[in-house]
Amino acid sequence: MSHHFDLLVIGGGVIGLSVAWRAARRGLRTAVVDPAPGSGASHAAAGMLAPVSEVTYTEEPLLRLGLASLDRWPAFAAELGADSGLDLDYRTDGTLDVAFGADDLAALDELAAFTEKLGLPAERLTGRECRRLEPMLAPSVRGGLLAGGDAWVDPRRVTGALLAALARTGGALVRSRVAGVETTAGTTAGTETAGTGTGTGTGTVTGVRLATGEIIGASRVLLAAGAWSGALEGLPAEAVPPVRPVKGQIMRLRSPSRILQRCVRGVVHGSSVYLVPRGDGEVVVGATQEEMGFDTRVTAGGMWELLRDARELVPGVTELELGDVVAGLRPGTPDNLPLVGPTIVPGLSLATGHHRGGVLLAPLTADLCLGDADGELSASCSPLRFQERR
Ligand code: GLY
Repeated sequence: MSHHFDLLVIGGGVIGLSVAWRAARRGLRTAVVDPAPGSGASHAAAGMLAPVSEVTYTEEPLLRLGLASLDRWPAFAAELGADSGLDLDYRTDGTLDVAFGADDLAALDELAAFTEKLGLPAERLTGRECRRLEPMLAPSVRGGLLAGGDAWVDPRRVTGALLAALARTGGALVRSRVAGVETTAGTTAGTETAGTGTGTGTGTVTGVRLATGEIIGASRVLLAAGAWSGALEGLPAEAVPPVRPVKGQIMRLRSPSRILQRCVRGVVHGSSVYLVPRGDGEVVVGATQEEMGFDTRVTAGGMWELLRDARELVPGVTELELGDVVAGLRPGTPDNLPLVGPTIVPGLSLATGHHRGGVLLAPLTADLCLGDADGELSASCSPLRFQERR
């Protein structure tokens, strides 16, 4: 293994692997360091590519990022499928958002007006029309909005394909834990900042130190460790990303045949629940949102909440076989926007903080990291917005 890379990515989730694969594909000497790639939030994710219904649509900057990334998904999926030789279970049949009460129906009307304003395909449906599309829906569903442009993908297949594609395009995978970053000022964290210019008192990041003690040099280090991105040792204080773990518990159910043709979601008891069908009959039910620190326990209450709400939408789910249950940690940020781009520390960039949208935002994030996205999108994700000199 070469011990100097053009790009070294810390974190082998859907974000880190996407950037690394795209970089390796263009001939950059690239490495990803992760003791267990694809095992964090990407393993728990449902894989909805649903920018309008998934984000609070009042958050326009985030919505713009989501739409820009959704546009990139068809080519990304096709190229990833070709480079890896693997199927991603990428589907483009849309999301059906359903409503039960008068308040929910009014919210759907607002969402419909908003999507129309943006020129996005969305169709307002009656309860009967919803059940014609999805016969398993509860009789109490009174209306819906079909977002025909939404898509979804199986995130576990995506990380598997990214690992295969990375290897095939010449990228390296180092299955090890990063103990800290290396800087020209040494490995110890420093808090002193330079008075002028872009540098900090801690110098330039020159690589990483593995838990084994081995040092790997890189011209550029990209921190893509999701919810753990703030915990890396040796990071200058002013470059520590403000990410926090937002726990999501999710449940996979198995059915011998597909019970839903598209993603179905709705608000039940004030919380949003979604069901994502896979090609093989699996149905993913998600997800809780809990601020519990680094806690990945699957709880009885979490599962109860998911099943209780999913059953309101699709009563038949309780007949399905329980597949697996998992809890993951989304990397949340103070303004719900991701952190992508260079930091004030030379040699160090971030690609983290994708919160609920890592799978959706992966193609755009790769383009942002490789300088292929427009300036406005890149400005809205810039880590510099939190890096006022302290
Ligand atoms: N994007 C779905 C979730 O975070 O639960």
